[in-house]
Amino acid sequence: LTLKDAYKNRFYIGTAMSRPQIENLKSEETSLIAKEFNSITAENIMKSMFLHPEEDVFSFETSDKYVDFGVKNNMFIHGHTLIWHSQLAPWFRAKKDSLEMSVAMENHIKTIVEHYDGKIDSWDVVNEALNEDGTLRKSVFLNTIGEDYLPMAFKWASETDPNVDLYYNDYNLTDTEKRKGAIRLIKQIQDKGVKIDGVGMQGHWHLNRPSLEVIEQSILDYAALGIKVAVTELDISVLPDPWGLQGAEISQRFENNDKMNPYPKALPDSIQTKLANRYKDIFKLFLKHQDKISRVTFWGISDKQTWLNDFPIKGRTNYPLLFDRELKPKKAFHTLVELT
Ligand code: XIL
Repeated sequence: LTLKDAYKNRFYIGTAMSRPQIENLKSEETSLIAKEFNSITAENIMKSMFLHPEEDVFSFETSDKYVDFGVKNNMFIHGHTLIWHSQLAPWFRAKKDSLEMSVAMENHIKTIVEHYDGKIDSWDVVNEALNEDGTLRKSVFLNTIGEDYLPMAFKWASETDPNVDLYYNDYNLTDTEKRKGAIRLIKQIQDKGVKIDGVGMQGHWHLNRPSLEVIEQSILDYAALGIKVAVTELDISVLPDPWGLQGAEISQRFENNDKMNPYPKALPDSIQTKLANRYKDIFKLFLKHQDKISRVTFWGISDKQTWLNDFPIKGRTNYPLLFDRELKPKKAFHTLVELT
């Protein structure tokens, strides 16, 4: 049984696709993607710095390949991401006032959404607009336009393709204060009569956090707004959690302790089992709320190419995904396939 078959009629099962996977559609990795998943998200290539590198230059070549791959394999294709402060096309920074930025954003959003009209099924319209305390993050968009940039972005996207699902996507959306902020933000969009279809909760999670209770409460809270809940960017770090430490502290502590990776060569069986159980608990919850959940997308297929091998500590080998470095299914994979 494949993963996508196991969860058929429940929710889409997606993965991120990296640039090399898109550029080499004949690779073993790409056939694994087609076999196991029925939804894809571009890990990097649709971010503004790649898709729209200069104000008058759109560079659709690689993303067209990505979309064609999804269409050919009958997949639910997600677009990531239209408006984000990071991996940002540098020319956005020259926009100094509300009018200049509005013109730039409108052209950016409309040109891209139009290009993929009828092919891309859902978009992250805005990514990571919130601080941890639930206030809006400082960015070129906030600084020029103010908080209205959010409803404006959603409005431009929905005007261009009324049939595409529009998402707000962010990390730590299970945390109390940030969750309140996200709910406020979504309500503000809805109160303006602007369409928003869903929230993407990035699942960059750990063995011990967030708790099942707060994940469940978050699903319920967001669904209560009348929108879909997608679990996006799912990966579960098995390594010591550096969060809460400050920059210098991180490097000091991690340099001193073999970069805080107790398993530099391979993941021991006991931790494989912990990871499998953690995935099992989380997916049980997703199944319980399958009427609220539109899609669950992993942030990659294998431990060989996970971004967590370089983040937040460069070169620290992590083991967050369902396939190992040789692309063999891990215990977590079997557990998830057997769960339904
Ligand atoms: C990450 C990619 O996985 C990396 O390859 C890249 O170097 C940085 O971005 N939140 C997001 C994703 O919305 O786009 C990020 O992806 C991970 C955090």
